[in-house]
Amino acid sequence: MFTPEMLASAKKVEATRAQRIGMEPKRMTAEEKHNLLREFHPDYKTDGFENLKIGPNKGEKVPKELAALLQANSRVKGLDLDLGRIAYDVDVLIIGGGGAGASAAIEAAGGGANVMVVTKLRMGDANTMMAEGGIQAADKANDSPAIHYLDALGGGHYANKPDLLKKLVTEGPGAVKWLNDLGVMFDKAPDGTMITTHGGGTSRKRMHAARDYSGAEIMRVLRDEVWNRGIPVVDFTAAVELILDENGRAAGAVLQNMETGEYLVARAKTVILATGGAGRLHYQGFPTSNHYGATADGLILAYRAGAKLLYQDTLQYHPTGAAFPEQIFGALVTEKVRSLGAMLINSEGEAFMHPLETRDVAAASIIRECKARKKGIPTPEGCGVWLDTPMIDMIHGEGTLEKRIPAMLRMYMKYDIDMREVPILVYPTLHYQNGGVDISVDGQSGVENLFIAGEAVGGIHGRNRLMGNSLLDIIVFGRNAGKNAAAKAKNVKGGKLTLRHVEAYAQEMADAGIVSDKVSPLLLPTYTHGREKWQAEK
Ligand code: FUM
Repeated sequence: MFTPEMLASAKKVEATRAQRIGMEPKRMTAEEKHNLLREFHPDYKTDGFENLKIGPNKGEKVPKELAALLQANSRVKGLDLDLGRIAYDVDVLIIGGGGAGASAAIEAAGGGANVMVVTKLRMGDANTMMAEGGIQAADKANDSPAIHYLDALGGGHYANKPDLLKKLVTEGPGAVKWLNDLGVMFDKAPDGTMITTHGGGTSRKRMHAARDYSGAEIMRVLRDEVWNRGIPVVDFTAAVELILDENGRAAGAVLQNMETGEYLVARAKTVILATGGAGRLHYQGFPTSNHYGATADGLILAYRAGAKLLYQDTLQYHPTGAAFPEQIFGALVTEKVRSLGAMLINSEGEAFMHPLETRDVAAASIIRECKARKKGIPTPEGCGVWLDTPMIDMIHGEGTLEKRIPAMLRMYMKYDIDMREVPILVYPTLHYQNGGVDISVDGQSGVENLFIAGEAVGGIHGRNRLMGNSLLDIIVFGRNAGKNAAAKAKNVKGGKLTLRHVEAYAQEMADAGIVSDKVSPLLLPTYTHGREKWQAEK
C-alpha cells in the first residue's frame, strides 16, 4: 500500500520509536510560536484574502472564497415572490439540523414555543456528526471553569469575547450532565466516573468522549430527542434568504425545496441560524474534514440582513487530516490519537514538535516540515508527516488503540493499513471557522430577533479554538439561543414581511461596482451533483 519511499521512511520512524516512549518533546516558546505562525499558517498568507467592499464589515479581510459569496447575487434576485403566501408560520424558526440546531429546538420547544427546524439535508447531516475526539467540561476535582477559561483564552490568542467564553466554561459541566442524562454513552470507568483526556492546549484532562465518534453519539441522542418530542423537522429544504419586518427585525426566511427548487415562505417571530461551518469552500485549496453542507450559508444570510461578522479571517486547519491514501484525503484523524501519546514524526524519524501544541501551531509546524525543511514524505496529493500510532499500545498496553479509537482503526483497515503496526501519514485539513457572526451573550446578532448558534458564531474561541470546545459550544449556545428565542418570541407582534434589505444590498453592490456571476448562499459544494437540473431550469 505504501510507496517504497514511504516504506523506507517508515523504517526510520520504527527505528526511533522505542527511545521516544516516555520522552516529552520540548514545547515551543511564545516567540517561536509567533514566528512560526506568521511564516507558515495559512491565515497569514496575504494572497488568500481580500477586503470586503460592502456591508457591515466593509474594509475588513476575509478569505477570497468567502468574499466571493458575501458579494454575490441573492438566489431570490429577480423572482416574483409573494411574501403573503405563508407556507409555514411558527414562533421560532431554526435553520440548521446539526447539534446546535437540535439543542436550540429542544429548549425552544421546552419553553413553550411553536418551533420548526429546516435543514437543507437531513437532521443530523452536519459537522457535529463528524466530530470525533470529545467535548470539554471542567467537572473534575482538579479542574475548574476558571482553569478551562485560561486554557481557551491562551489557545484563542487572548481574542475570545470574555462574556461568551465565561458562559461556555461555566456552563460546560451542566452541558455534559445534560447530554449524559439524555443518554449519551460517554466513556466511563467501571465505577461510573467519566474518563477524561487531554487535548492540545489543555492543562487538565477534561475531554469527555464516546470512543472516537463522540459527535455522532451526541447527534444520535439529540436527533432522537427532537423526534421524540414531536418537533417538526423539514428536511431537504434550504434557507436562501432571511425575511425582515418593516423595522428591520428578523421575521422569517425564504426557503427552497432542494429537490423541486420550489420557494416557500416561512414566517417566524424569532429566527435561529445554526447553519454550521465553511470547510466545503476549501479555502486556499485545502481539503476538509467537514460535512458536505458546510458552505458558510449562515454567514451569507446574516451578513446580507445587516449582521456583523467577527474574526471571519481566522480558520482552523486541523493538523492531522489523512494525507494518504487518496480516498480519505483530508478526513479527520482525531486529536485523541495524539492525546493518547502518538507523536508527529518527520521523514527522518525525528519528533519535530510536542504533539499537544495548539492546533494552529501544530498545523503550521507540519507545513514547515513539508515546505521549508523538506522533511515531509511525498504523497500523491503533495506531502505528509508521520503520526506514530503504534506508540499508543506501547504506552497504554495492547488493545488500547482498538478500544479508544475504533473508528480510526476501521477507517485505515479498509485500505489495509493497520495503524497498530505502522504509522499513518497526515497533513493539515480545513476543519473549523473560528470566526462567524458576532453575537451578544443572549445569542442574538446585531439584527434584532436573529439568533445565531454553533459554528456560525464568531468570538467564543478567539482566533483559534481548542479541541472539544466546539461540541461544547453547540450545546451551551444552542440551548441558550433556543431558550432566549422562545422567550423573545412571546413579545413579538408580527410585522409586514419584506426583502427590502436584499434589494438594498444589491444596490450597495452596484454602487461599489461589484459585478458577480455567482449566487449565494452556495448550499452545496460545486462538485456535488443533483442540483444542476433545477438550477439550470431557473
Ligand atoms: O480532533 C478531533 O477529534 C476534533 C475535535 C474538535 O474539533 O473539537
